[in-house]
Amino acid sequence: MTTSTADLYALSERYYLPVYRPRRIVLDHGQGARVWDRDGREYVDFGAGIAVNALGHAHPALVAALTEQAGKLWHTSNVFVSEPPLRLAEELVAASRFARRVFFCNSGTEANEAAIKLARKWAAAQDRTPDRRVILSFRGSFHGRTLAAVTAGAQPKYHEGFEPLPPGFRYSDFNDLAAAEAAMVHGDVCAVLVEPVQGEGGVTPATEAFLLGLRALCDRHGALLMLDEIQCGMGRTGQLFACHGYGVTPDVVTLAKALGSGFPIGAMLVGDKASEAMQFGAHGTTFGGNPLAAAVARAALRELSSPAVLANVTRQSLAIRDALAAIDAELALFGEIRGCGLMLGAQLREAYAGKAGEILDHCADHGLLLLQAGPDVLRFVPALNISDADVAEGLTRFQQALRSFAGA
Ligand SMILES: Cc1ncc(COP(=O)(O)O)c(C=O)c1O
Repeated sequence: MTTSTADLYALSERYYLPVYRPRRIVLDHGQGARVWDRDGREYVDFGAGIAVNALGHAHPALVAALTEQAGKLWHTSNVFVSEPPLRLAEELVAASRFARRVFFCNSGTEANEAAIKLARKWAAAQDRTPDRRVILSFRGSFHGRTLAAVTAGAQPKYHEGFEPLPPGFRYSDFNDLAAAEAAMVHGDVCAVLVEPVQGEGGVTPATEAFLLGLRALCDRHGALLMLDEIQCGMGRTGQLFACHGYGVTPDVVTLAKALGSGFPIGAMLVGDKASEAMQFGAHGTTFGGNPLAAAVARAALRELSSPAVLANVTRQSLAIRDALAAIDAELALFGEIRGCGLMLGAQLREAYAGKAGEILDHCADHGLLLLQAGPDVLRFVPALNISDADVAEGLTRFQQALRSFAGA
C-alpha cells in the first residue's frame, strides 16, 4: 500500500520540530528547472531550493562527479587530506582574485560563524585596541541561524527568545554610508559584514558607492571587509563573485548555497590581510571539506564559471524583468522590481502588503515554485542555466497565478 501525500505531510507535522511551514507538496524528482511531486504534478522551479540548485536538478556533470566520488572515498575528517577539497581550494582561490586561503564547512551560517571568529582572532592578534572586537552589520541582513550569525543578522524577529545574544555586534542602515561611518568612529569595529545583495531582507543590492565606501572605511579604521556572498555569489549576479561586479576587493568572502549546487558545503575565503589569523587549533569541523561535497562543488564551479552560464544569467534576468514590467502594466501589483542577475525581487504595492505567501499559493496551484523575501517581496532565484523555454513557461504560469490572485 502506498502512502498518500497527505499522510506523508502529516508525518512532517508529527515528527519535525515545527520550525518550518512547508507547502503541502511532496517533491519527488527534478530535471533541470522542472520538478515533479509524488502525485505526478510538474512545476517550473523559480526558487531552486532557495538559490541553491544553481545548475537545476540532476545536472549530469554533478551526478557524474558525485557518483564517481561515492565509489572512491566519502569522508576522511580533517585529520587527513584528500584531493577533491585541496583542488577545490586551489580553484576557488584562483577564481576569487583576492583569496589566499580557504576554510571549508557545511553551511552558510557556519561560514559566517567562521568569519566572525576569524575577525575577532585577527583583531586580538594585533592587540592595538583591546576592545576593538565589534562586528558591524546592517539592518535587513541575514547571515544564518547559529547564535553569532543570527546576532549579526540584524533582524529582531530572529533574536526574540534567544537572549542573551553574544556581545560585540552593532547595526547600521544598509546603503547608508554616513551611518556606517558614524558607527565606526569609536575605533572599536574589527570587521564589517555585509551582503552585496541582501537576499532574505528583500532582494536589495548594495549601491556601488556603499560597498566602495565600506572598503575605504575599513581601510581607514583598520577593519576587515567581509562579504556574505552565500546567496548572491557563485554566478547569481552574472559574475562568479558578486564583488567582481562592484570592483571591490574584500578581505573575507563567505560562500555556501550554489557552491555545492545542492550538496551541502560552505566556505570562507580569506585574503592576505587575515590569512594567518587562524592558526592550529583555532577552529575546525568534522565534515567540512568532505571529499564528496568537494567533488560536486568542483564540478559546479567549472559549470558556473563558464561564460555561457554567466551570459545566460544576464539574458534571463532581462527576460524576467521585462515580463514583470509587462505583468505589472496589466495588474498593477508591484511597487518596485529590483535585484540583479538571477536574484530579482518584485516588491508588492502597499495595497497588497503581506500577501506574498498567498501569491505563492496561487503560483504553486498554477505549476510554479516561487519564493518570497519577507511578506511583501516575491523572489525569483531560478537555476542559472535555465532555458529560454523554461523561463517563458514559468512567466506564463506566474501571470496566470497573479490573474487568479487579483481576481480572487
Ligand atoms: C546571505 C545569507 N547568508 C547566510 C545564510 C545562511 O545559510 P545556511 O542556511 O546555509 O546556514 C543564508 C541563507 O539563506 C543567506 O541567504
